[in-house]
Amino acid sequence: MLRVTLAALHLFALAFGLGAVYVRGRSLTERPLTLGAVRRAFVADSWWGIAAGLWIATGLWRLFAGTEKATSYYLHNDAFFAKMALLIIILALEIWPMMTLIRWRKAVAKSSDAWQPDEIVAGRITKISYIQAALGLAMVVAAVLMARGYGYRGP
Ligand code: HEM
Repeated sequence: MLRVTLAALHLFALAFGLGAVYVRGRSLTERPLTLGAVRRAFVADSWWGIAAGLWIATGLWRLFAGTEKATSYYLHNDAFFAKMALLIIILALEIWPMMTLIRWRKAVAKSSDAWQPDEIVAGRITKISYIQAALGLAMVVAAVLMARGYGYRGP
């Protein structure tokens, strides 16, 4: 039952996460950029954060509890390392949008009427979000290969 629950939660995170990061990027393309659009991006950003937490927690659990295969299988698998490398790139790309959106959330909370979002910055967050979504799809390919024995180098 634990095996099935973790696998389902891992895939729920995939569904929410890729949708959320895409919607975050899409919301910030509106011109002129309204406060309503920025607020939609905040909601999507929160879901993206929740999905990332769920992904990593369930992924690490599946890895170390050996619910599908022994931990050593993954540690000798190039597709697994490709998947982790892609995750590191996604997380590194997230630093700047995360800091920016935290600043924006504070600014909106302080003076929502007076505050004007910077459309150039918003455009950059959109580009980064779309790149992260594409890298997330590449992670799915690596995961599917890894789960089916591809990339295994033997113990
Ligand atoms: C620390 C992060 C992560 C770890 C340690 C991890 C680990 C795992 C493990 C151990 C499995 C089981 C594979 C098997 O059945 O042998 C798995 C499956 C899977 N993971 Fe992850 N994962 C992580 C993050 C992610 C992310 C961010 C995504 C998507 C973008 C993802 C997508 C998938 C998919 C689609 C499967 C199912 C593959 C299949 O059964 O065909 N994982 N993951």
